[in-house]
Amino acid sequence: MKKITLQDIYLKKRNRVGIACLTAYDSSFSKYLDDCGVDIILVGDSLGMVIQGHKNTHKVDQHDIEYHTKLVSRGIKKSYLIADMPINTYNKSNQALKNATKLINECGAKMVKIETDTTNLDILNYLTKKNIPVCAHIGIKPQHIKFPHEYKKQGKTFQDKKKILDEAIFVEQAGAKLLIVECVEESLAQKISKKLSIPVIGIASGKYCDGQILVLYDLLGISFNGIPKFINKEYFKIKSIDERIKQFIQNTRSLPKE
Ligand code: KIV
Repeated sequence: MKKITLQDIYLKKRNRVGIACLTAYDSSFSKYLDDCGVDIILVGDSLGMVIQGHKNTHKVDQHDIEYHTKLVSRGIKKSYLIADMPINTYNKSNQALKNATKLINECGAKMVKIETDTTNLDILNYLTKKNIPVCAHIGIKPQHIKFPHEYKKQGKTFQDKKKILDEAIFVEQAGAKLLIVECVEESLAQKISKKLSIPVIGIASGKYCDGQILVLYDLLGISFNGIPKFINKEYFKIKSIDERIKQFIQNTRSLPKE
């Protein structure tokens, strides 16, 4: 069975086939998502909220992500696996390299994800130079947020739009191989997806990104802290888990005409 490579994901962007991504935290679900045909599985630090029952992601540590990445990796045959780097595990270059290397060499991740802005481009660039593939994450950055009500659309004003667009350009220049945009205004997310040559995966950022990612438990409607408003309610009419996941993949694959 052929594993999905980063090249395959880039090809999807080029051929305008949407990239379907979901989070997972254990082997049973990762096997399930892999069998359903999900392109990318992320071990997100959202596990702090949906698995550990906290109000935010801040209590997740390196050990948690290593543990869950190993579990998820065991269930995967094809999907591309990304591990999130938790808060305070990539503040310094050497610390970031040590932790990212563990996730890739010992836990089965193919790429790590870090929340980025103009203050940590050096870390992103350092990891890239050390051959660690990095997914950057801009827009709402959950590691900067304490409570669910702080999730607000980003990029509403001209200044914010410019700041976020600049961040997207800078992370690509610094070496990011993928970009996640969270809670970004739709036309801005579209502009970023067009401008960048790396694939741009959106969450709560409208339909024009190169791919979509959801927290699996939000799609299943069982998240501990409640289901975010942006989740398409049509999914909850589909009773079978299998069909719901496949519907998400199908919706994501067919990108709208610009
Ligand atoms: O932690 C996570 O699950 C994430 C996704 C929501 C993108 O960062």
